[in-house]
Amino acid sequence: MAKLIPNVLSIAGVDPSGGAGVLADIKAISAVGAYGTGVVTALTAQSTQGVMGIYPIDLSFIKQQIDVLFEDVHIDAVKIGMLGQEPVIYTVVDCLSRWQPQHLVVDPVMVAKSGDHLLEKAATAAMREAMLPLATVITPNLPEAGVLLEQRAAENLKEMYGTAEKLRRLLSDADNRWVFLKGGHLPGSDCTDLLYDGDQMIELPAQRIHTKNTHGTGCTLSAALAGLLPQANNTVQAAKLAKEYLYKAIARSGDLTVGSGYGPVNHFHAWWPAPQA
Ligand SMILES: Nc1ncnc2c1ncn2[C@@H]1O[C@H](COP(=O)(O)OP(=O)(O)OP(=O)(O)O)[C@@H](O)[C@H]1O
Ligand SMILES: [Mg+2]
Repeated sequence: MAKLIPNVLSIAGVDPSGGAGVLADIKAISAVGAYGTGVVTALTAQSTQGVMGIYPIDLSFIKQQIDVLFEDVHIDAVKIGMLGQEPVIYTVVDCLSRWQPQHLVVDPVMVAKSGDHLLEKAATAAMREAMLPLATVITPNLPEAGVLLEQRAAENLKEMYGTAEKLRRLLSDADNRWVFLKGGHLPGSDCTDLLYDGDQMIELPAQRIHTKNTHGTGCTLSAALAGLLPQANNTVQAAKLAKEYLYKAIARSGDLTVGSGYGPVNHFHAWWPAPQA
């Protein structure tokens, strides 16, 4: 018998351009074969050019969205994206501590591709001390890892190894907790990511694709991972499939004509034929 289609929740902000945030997450979750649900933590006025405004959602309403959903729907995996402010982190932590989803992918979103700040500086400690211990996988980029560890961001693969080891100490001591350290910010042509669970250090190598269309790569990766975790045999397999999916989505981003800044990736590359020139 075929496995049931998993229900996956994205808790994140809204990017109206659809390249990042909840809208992008739902596309990625759908594309990898799961049913996407979304709880909104903040609205943004955003395009491929940057983030022009942020409109936070009331804490009580964030809590209500999460509780109403979990009371009705069995959620197999959760992905956390933009939370924005310290009280939002504590609200979401409180809800997830009660609902205890089996898979919890935490993308500690701090800065958008455009350079705009998406998490208040004062909220870093709450992210580190309250949210990360709940996660089954965390997916920081290199600058975020540096901020969480209060050190300079890694600049090469060797430094990434040390960073992944230190990040693992911020997670629960339990088995099967993984650091997925993204190498998208490495200088040069290499985009290798690292997976580390305190025992196995696994390199996920990739050559950098030369494109400006990297808006939402991090959101797309963590959402695809949340969608795949309930379907895969283990976290390593899910992580490899998520990266492969994202890589093809970046490679086919040129099919789209969305804005003139950092454009989105092509979430539905497997279904949509490449447009004819
Ligand atoms: N140009 C590229 N070519 C291939 N892979 C890339 C490229 N840029 C990023 N990636 C991959 O995309 C994933 C996201 O990495 P990145 O470091 O860009 O995350 P991020 O900074 O959180 O993204 P975002 O700005 O969307 O939040 C990683 O797996 C990384 O290796
Ligand atoms: Mg990111």
